[in-house]
Amino acid sequence: SDSGIGIHDLSFATTEFVLPHTALAEYNGTEIGKYHIGIGQESMSVPAADEDIVTLGAAAAAPIIERHGSERIRTVVFATESSIDQAKSGGVYVHSLLGLPSAARVVELKQACYGATAGLQFALGLVARDPSQQVLVIASDVSKYELDSPGEATQGAAAVAMLVGADPQLIRFDGPSGLFTADVMDFWRPNYRDAALVDGQESISAYLQAVEGCWKDYAEQGGHSLDEFAAFCYHQPFTKMAYKAHRHLLEYCGHDSDKDAVEQALGQTTAYNRVIGNSYTASVYLGLAALLDQADDLTGRSIGFLSYGSGSVAEFFAGQVVPGYRDRLRTAEHRKAVERRTVLDYAGYRELHERKFPTDGGDYPTPVQSGGQFRLAALRGHKRIYERR
Ligand code: CAA
Repeated sequence: SDSGIGIHDLSFATTEFVLPHTALAEYNGTEIGKYHIGIGQESMSVPAADEDIVTLGAAAAAPIIERHGSERIRTVVFATESSIDQAKSGGVYVHSLLGLPSAARVVELKQACYGATAGLQFALGLVARDPSQQVLVIASDVSKYELDSPGEATQGAAAVAMLVGADPQLIRFDGPSGLFTADVMDFWRPNYRDAALVDGQESISAYLQAVEGCWKDYAEQGGHSLDEFAAFCYHQPFTKMAYKAHRHLLEYCGHDSDKDAVEQALGQTTAYNRVIGNSYTASVYLGLAALLDQADDLTGRSIGFLSYGSGSVAEFFAGQVVPGYRDRLRTAEHRKAVERRTVLDYAGYRELHERKFPTDGGDYPTPVQSGGQFRLAALRGHKRIYERR
C-alpha cells in the first residue's frame, strides 16, 4: 500500500490496584531517592485477585474493537512472558471475551519482553501479503519478583493492544530492522516458579550489549542516522534504564550525551511506565503511548524503537508519525486507567503478592475485587473461568 503499514490504533489497560514506592520504601527502609531518582519509579500496578493477563489484554483491546469492528481481523497475536497455560494461548480467551470472528488464527508468542515486537513484525508481514487484513497484537504481562528482592521495586502490570494494518492512522513503519541475539542468563523464569529470577547488574549490561548489537546491525542495513529521530521508545523495566541505554547508544555512536538532548529524546516516553512499573512485553509500547499522548505535534517525525527481551533478543526499528494522528489518540482514557487505580498499603500489597492459586482442581470462585469489564471469575476443574460484565 502507498501509505504503508503500521499501527492503526493503540490502547492500554492496567490493574485495579497500585502500590506507591513510598509505601515499599517505608516498609523496607530504603531511601526514597533510590526509587524516585535511582531507578526512576513512583508506583507500580498490582493485579487484583480476579485480574490476570487475559482480563488485562481484553480490557486493552475492547476499545479498539468498539471503534473499528472486528470484520477485518484474521490474526490475533498474544505476547506474554507471564503465561497462564503451557498449551493454550491466552489470546483464545481474549478472542472469546471480545466475540472476535471464528475465521481467525490466534497464537501466543514468547521471548521475554521482546515478544510483542516479534508479534508486530509478524503482523507487518501478514498485512504486506494481504493489505485488506488487520492483525490484533496484544502485549500483556504481570511482572512479579520475590518479596524483599532487588527486583521487587521493578514490578508492575499492564496490557497494550495494537491494531496493525495498511494505511495506518498512528505510526507507519519504515526502513530495516537491526537485530541482535545472544544466549545470556540475565533474567529467566523456570516453569515451576511464578516469580522471575534475575541477575540485576548482569541484566543491565546484557541490555546495553544488545543496544550496541542491534544498532550496529541497523546501521549496516542502511537505517536512518541517529539525529533523524525526534524521540526513542526503549523497553523500560524501570524508566532510568531508558536513560542508561540511550546514553550508551550516543557514546557508542561517538555523540556527546548532552543531558538536555537525552531528556528531549526520552522524557515524554516515560510518563506511564514511571507510575505503572515494568509491564514486560507491553513496556516499549506504553512508552509509545506516553510519547503520543504527551508530546506536541509529532506529525511526520521519526521515532526509534528499541525492544529488548532478556535471554536475549533485541531489535531496533523506525516508525513515522502519520498526519491526523492526534484525532485518534486515547489520551483521556489512558490517563483515567492510571488514575482510577485504588492505592494499596504495604499489607494489602503483600497479601496479593503471597496469594497462591489452588492446584487441586476444585471449584474456587475468585473474590470480586476489580471494577473492570472483564474478570477471572473462578478456577474450576483446572480451568480458568472468565466473565464479561
Ligand atoms: N538517591 C538517588 N539515587 C540512588 C539512591 C538515592 N538515595 N540510592 C541509590 N541510588 C541509585 C544508584 O546509584 C543506582 O543508580 P545507577 O544505576 O545509575 O548507578 C540506582 O539507584 C539503583 O541502585 P542499585 O544498583 O544499588 O540497586 P539494586 O542493586 O537494588 O538493583 C536493579 C537495581 C538491578 C535494577 C534491580 O531493581 C533489579 O534487579 N531489577 C530487575 C531486573 C531489571 O529490571 N533489569 C533491567 C535490565 S533487564 C530487562 O530490561 C528485561 C526486564 O524487563 C526484566
